[in-house]
Amino acid sequence: MKNLNKMDGITRRKFLQTGATFAASAMLAGFGASNVFGAANKYLVSPSSQIVTLNNGVQMPILGFGTLYLTGSVGEKCIADAISVGYRLFDTATIYDNEDAVGAGIKRSGINREELFVTSKVWVDDYGFENTKKAFETSLEKLGVDYLDLYLIHRPRGDVKGTWRAMEDLYRENKIRAIGVSNFEPDQLTELIEYCEIKPTVNQIETHAFFQQPGAHEYLNQHDVQMQAWSPFAQGRNGHFTNETLAEIGEKYNKTNAQVSLRWHYQRGIVTIPRTSQKAHMIENRNIFDFELDESDMRTIAQLDLNTTQFPEWE
Ligand SMILES: NC(=O)c1ccc[n+]([C@@H]2O[C@H](COP(=O)([O-])OP(=O)(O)OC[C@H]3O[C@@H](n4cnc5c(N)ncnc54)[C@H](OP(=O)(O)O)[C@@H]3O)[C@@H](O)[C@H]2O)c1
Repeated sequence: MKNLNKMDGITRRKFLQTGATFAASAMLAGFGASNVFGAANKYLVSPSSQIVTLNNGVQMPILGFGTLYLTGSVGEKCIADAISVGYRLFDTATIYDNEDAVGAGIKRSGINREELFVTSKVWVDDYGFENTKKAFETSLEKLGVDYLDLYLIHRPRGDVKGTWRAMEDLYRENKIRAIGVSNFEPDQLTELIEYCEIKPTVNQIETHAFFQQPGAHEYLNQHDVQMQAWSPFAQGRNGHFTNETLAEIGEKYNKTNAQVSLRWHYQRGIVTIPRTSQKAHMIENRNIFDFELDESDMRTIAQLDLNTTQFPEWE
């Protein structure tokens, strides 16, 4: 978010007001920027994707595709379908047990690797310097790729510092374009930022209409760490897809609850990775760049915040 502001020279408030136009200009401004891999244009994602620039200069689509539970041949087909309708960012993790399916879907699509932004995460069982390096190589092998765009520490437990040092090494070796974390509270991130040599670029945390995380959002913006929302629909919990407030807002723009939610994330400058197994939903979820929520809509959605996780079983 901060980088978007830097690129375009406009304020955060202005972005919130003019999300679509701004993201389009940010996308254009981003072309030609170099990254840790040195090549100026080689790793740019599809022009049809809206892009944010991370604190190391790497560009990332603001709307991607989640892959939790999408395993085996179903997962493979979903990934290939998602690529065919324009998704370029894919979020997987060792613990999802589907890196092979994601890799197979990528292969099946026939797309060039450089057009994609592939994220995976190291799971707690593999934490520590040596184990992380091994786990990373296994992820590459399963995915059938020779680098990752983003590698995250899945949860803030155990030997986070040893894990981070391994990730810094892999980053310096140009095997990962950006490194980051997931599920870190601000104080845990502060501790890592004080320790690290290479700053985290992303924190992927639970964020949706019922758990909006304004404090974490503010903290991440202040520290130039990109916020990424997991479960942007709360997996449909708490009646997300039938919520009347979202539906009333959607009616004004002829949009669904899913589209209103994703647009709301987008206008907050938050990267989302909605998951779906249905091609019609894949298309629907990408169709959020042709309307704009006004300030009153944003205020109304803010009131849906229950300020608590919808996934207590994962705590
Ligand atoms: N870092 C972490 O700890 C963490 C934790 C959880 C998730 N994640 C990541 O975040 C991604 C997204 O979160 P999630 O998978 O938990 O859930 P989600 O994206 O919030 O919701 C997925 C559910 O929404 C439904 N859906 C999608 N689009 C829809 C639409 N347009 N209309 C109606 N229903 C729709 C899907 O059903 P259909 O298949 O029927 O469309 C599915 O049941 C994950 O896949 C994963 O990559 C990360």
